[in-house]
Amino acid sequence: MKIFWWYQREMVCVMGILLWWFYCCILVCCTGWFAKPAEKKTPVSPHQHMKAAFMAEMKAENIKQFLYNFTQVPHLAGTKENLHLAQQIQAEWKEFGLDSVELIHYDVLLSYPDDSKPNYISIIDEHGNEIFNTSLSEPPPPGYEAVRDVVPPYSAFSAQGMPEGELVYVNYGRTEDFFKLEREMGINCTGKIVIARYGKIFRGNKVKNAELAGAKGVILYSDPADYCAPGTDPYPNGWNLPGGGAQRGNILNLNGAGDPLTPGYPAKEYTYRLDKASGVGLPKIPVHPIGYDDAESLLRNMGGYAPPHSSWKGNLNVSYNVGPGFTKDYSTRKVKMHIHSNNEVRRIYNVIGIIRGAVEPDRYVILGGHRDSWVFGGIDPQSGAAVVHEIVRSFGKLKRKGWRPRRTVIFASWDAEEFGLFGSTEWAEENAKVLQARGVLLVVFCRNSDGILCICCLVTFKILSFGFEGKSLYESWYKKNPSREYKEVPRINKLGSGNDFEVFFQRLGIASGRARYSKNWNVEKYSSYPVYHSVYETYEIVERFYDPTFKNHLTVAQVRGGLVFELANSAVLPFDCRDYASAVSNYAHIIYNLSRNHEEELATYNVSFDALFSAVKNFTEVAASFHERLQQIDSNNPLAVRSLNDQLMFLERAFIDPFGLPGRPFYRHIIFAPSSHNKYAGESFPGIYDAMFDIESKVDQHEAWEEVKKQISIAAFTVQAAAETLKEVG
Ligand SMILES: *[C@@H]1O[C@H](CO)[C@@H](O)[C@H](O)[C@H]1NC(C)=O
Ligand SMILES: *[C@@H]1O[C@H](CO)[C@@H](O)[C@H](O)[C@H]1NC(C)=O
Ligand SMILES: *[C@@H]1O[C@H](CO)[C@@H](O)[C@H](O)[C@H]1NC(C)=O
Ligand SMILES: *[C@@H]1O[C@H](CO)[C@@H](O)[C@H](O)[C@H]1NC(C)=O
Ligand SMILES: *[C@@H]1O[C@H](CO)[C@@H](O)[C@H](O)[C@H]1NC(C)=O
Ligand SMILES: *[C@@H]1O[C@H](CO)[C@@H](O)[C@H](O)[C@H]1NC(C)=O
Ligand SMILES: *[C@@H]1O[C@H](CO)[C@@H](O)[C@H](O)[C@H]1NC(C)=O
Repeated sequence: MKIFWWYQREMVCVMGILLWWFYCCILVCCTGWFAKPAEKKTPVSPHQHMKAAFMAEMKAENIKQFLYNFTQVPHLAGTKENLHLAQQIQAEWKEFGLDSVELIHYDVLLSYPDDSKPNYISIIDEHGNEIFNTSLSEPPPPGYEAVRDVVPPYSAFSAQGMPEGELVYVNYGRTEDFFKLEREMGINCTGKIVIARYGKIFRGNKVKNAELAGAKGVILYSDPADYCAPGTDPYPNGWNLPGGGAQRGNILNLNGAGDPLTPGYPAKEYTYRLDKASGVGLPKIPVHPIGYDDAESLLRNMGGYAPPHSSWKGNLNVSYNVGPGFTKDYSTRKVKMHIHSNNEVRRIYNVIGIIRGAVEPDRYVILGGHRDSWVFGGIDPQSGAAVVHEIVRSFGKLKRKGWRPRRTVIFASWDAEEFGLFGSTEWAEENAKVLQARGVLLVVFCRNSDGILCICCLVTFKILSFGFEGKSLYESWYKKNPSREYKEVPRINKLGSGNDFEVFFQRLGIASGRARYSKNWNVEKYSSYPVYHSVYETYEIVERFYDPTFKNHLTVAQVRGGLVFELANSAVLPFDCRDYASAVSNYAHIIYNLSRNHEEELATYNVSFDALFSAVKNFTEVAASFHERLQQIDSNNPLAVRSLNDQLMFLERAFIDPFGLPGRPFYRHIIFAPSSHNKYAGESFPGIYDAMFDIESKVDQHEAWEEVKKQISIAAFTVQAAAETLKEVG
């Protein structure tokens, strides 16, 4: 079996590589920054010498050992096993040589199934007899039969309840799927239980859409069309999802709030808490995930409308009729959900390790990934955590030789990411003032990757890509996944969310990024790697199928480690604000082009994008002259260097609007936000985009277009204000 990676969950940028089934791609998402590979050869500096030593220190074998060590028992957030792992990581990071390593705890709202009252879904006959029940757990993978404390598949934070009703199949449960049902087919989901297949968008958005449609319960399932790739078998013989496997996951719509009971503030002992019923983002209806064997039983006799389009059909042996309800022969049957999970406040632990900077200790580069997993976490998150561990070990090794980075590097092992990014968000809330003043850049990852600013181009082009003989990673990234907008650079996608960078970037305006290997997005339609969040995400699936040599893990470690090294050590920060200008200009054209579907209304309501284009033009000019000054910088004048670096560092902060986006106070970045329709995806100029979304169906057109005008003016102001920060000082 060839090496491939299929590490993807939250949409991001991709660098595709190799054959169509050879999902060797590095994903790099970024905030609009990116740099091209360095042009000139310069003599080897002490900096480059240390970097070479650092890169050579990292070993595939160590990452493999760490992954094995981190995946032997479940590490669900809020359990003692995950506290023990935090303590182990704390001890090891200390041993590696960091200056300080602390466990930082918060008390946040989590959700667990009730051990004595299992969650399941049944088909009931006209007498209420349960003639079919979904399974209560997944068949364990070989070798793990005796492991206790495997939490059965559940939707964390589901409401409790036992709704019964007719089933409606809603495809992926996207906004457009519900529009199709409600507006074109005239199907009313009020009082129905909807069944949605996983994929395409974040599951929390599916649940929210179902609630808005009036559903009283949601069943989520993994269709073989989305979770079984052709040419391989279900685990353990291959890497597909077995029929009894199901995807766990939280279904919150937090919009960046963190802990549902303490929005905006760290969940400390003294913090005022909302009561549980009024927590932020909690679903109001029961939700439960099942595998495709059980889904086939539920969908088998669906009646009502035929699927509206072939794209609504998955690969089960059923009609994919939409319903409502079963065919005539079975019309007395109904579906009943039994959901008894509890929300409770429990303690979570971040591990925060620090290497103090030698020259600018008050400038922070942060590297992190999460530690909590649904079950064994073979891919998500431990493949990422093992990489962080090896990066920390390698930094520690250099430090033990008497070296320090120029800037302070903070390493983080976040807890409770799976429940809603709680560990990272609470920590950022607690340290917001300091981070806003000193945070240079955040690089995060879970799963085998996240976390890189587009600068990774600088790093990647020095690393050889495995399986792509003689080509640098940068070249193969570019070759397999070129940018759509720019010539001769690889693709870098917008940052959405679904990972721990969210609060840093979307709320605080700290430049962030992620990089990871993934499937080849050009040729691969699957939404996620098949065993994602199931009990089958084991060490063995990685070792046997995804990366037997662990060379891809090593590559990711070198990309991320190299990036952190550059950011922490370059005298001048390796950001190019001209690239940001070019990205912002592109986004302005995209949103303007979108508006031109409404030429008539633009005229009627006097909607103009002139101010936005004027601001973009100003930003572009200021960025160009900033860069000229940067070229002429006197590098022996530390105050001059620091001054320009600060302008670069605070540029991202300038895109933050203290009032936040409409209805989403914790998403405050005006250029980027997680899409309102899919948290995993990024949206550019989200304020304008959301104001124009589906605008034709708004009752009061005048009011709707006034909102568009307001959002354009906010965007124009913010871009102009950001430009002002780059102007020559004094
Ligand atoms: C993981 O490594 C630590 C430190 O070496 C050790 O104490 C622990 O027993 C290991 N755990 C497993 C499951 O191998
Ligand atoms: C489903 O579970 C219920 C409750 O445990 C039980 O009464 C019923 O017999 C089960 N039905 C089937 C078909 O197993
Ligand atoms: C859907 O049905 C509910 C109750 O059955 C009703 O209140 C609601 O108006 C209906 N919606 C539409 C769009 O017809
Ligand atoms: C599909 O289901 C029908 C009954 O619903 C059955 O007759 C047929 O054999 C099934 N096909 C396969 C390939 O399992
Ligand atoms: C906007 O539309 C114009 C004209 O149709 C086209 O030339 C341009 O490429 C579009 N720009 C973007 C960024 O989509
Ligand atoms: C339309 O807006 C522009 C500024 O964007 C303004 O100068 C002009 O007076 C407005 N026209 C009308 C009819 O409101
Ligand atoms: C762009 O700069 C010009 C010249 O300084 C200025 O007149 C204009 O108002 C600026 N645009 C915006 C949106 O502020």
